[in-house]
Amino acid sequence: MAISEKLKKIFDKDSKKIKKCLFPAAGYGTRFLPATKAMPKEMLPIVNKPLIQYGVEEALEAGITNMAIVTGRGKRAIEDHFDISYELENQIKGTSKESLLSDIRAVINRCVFTYTRQIEMKGLGHAVLTGKPLIGEEPFAVILADDLCFNENSAVLKQMIEIYEQYGVCVVAVQEVNPEDVSKYGVIKGEEVDDRIYKVDYMVEKPSKEEAPSNLAVIGRYILIPEIFSILETLPPGKNGEIQLTDALLKLAEEGKVLAYKFKGKRFDCGSVSGFVEATNFFFERITN
Ligand code: G1P
Repeated sequence: MAISEKLKKIFDKDSKKIKKCLFPAAGYGTRFLPATKAMPKEMLPIVNKPLIQYGVEEALEAGITNMAIVTGRGKRAIEDHFDISYELENQIKGTSKESLLSDIRAVINRCVFTYTRQIEMKGLGHAVLTGKPLIGEEPFAVILADDLCFNENSAVLKQMIEIYEQYGVCVVAVQEVNPEDVSKYGVIKGEEVDDRIYKVDYMVEKPSKEEAPSNLAVIGRYILIPEIFSILETLPPGKNGEIQLTDALLKLAEEGKVLAYKFKGKRFDCGSVSGFVEATNFFFERITN
């Protein structure tokens, strides 16, 4: 029996539907100062839509309607965005401008939003753990909104959920990056068990080019199983003194519970100015053509 068949056999019985998507959104966005001094980085627009709305729409496309957002100080604009703005809506009612709000209205009507605040920024792992009361004991998705993903036919998160439904373990999205860039990412080592799917046996947060086990970098899309929370609860700080999601995932990987998926589609690193401009040009072209 092929390895992938064996894995599927083991994982099948644990499969559960993914109903919630967690958005860690408490970070400062220092790379975009001064733009992000008083505005959440997740609200930076790519053309006319804030980054976090792209993320929420991707989750919706993947069949998820419960959006769990981990915010922090100075992030109230996110909550206001996913709410009604009575004064504005009343003002433009019946005018040609009303249609500009139809997308966000559709999102608001289809989703439930829950929020919690991260008081201290202690890393991505800590942000995910902060979201535990919003998620509970079930598998869930995570989107880092500054990684903007695009696939016209099948959203990246949707592709990942399809894999999760087959195997029932954590799935991290990966892409090949230049060896010079591995130090910006979590990097995996794994054996390819199926087309584009790797069984992860090692992963490391932001390694040097020399230390990196491969050039397969984790991007901001994850499917996680609830066991991740108990691991995060006792995890010591890792790289840069932060609680790293990568370190928690490594523990699950050692038990054979993490797959990496080389996703189909594009990903823009909108946490960097160059990626942000690239995404802006890409979506502008799509809108105007
Ligand atoms: C985080 C994760 C890292 C991952 C990256 C993807 O890093 O810690 O493992 O590769 O997101 O964007 P950050 O970019 O928040 O420093």
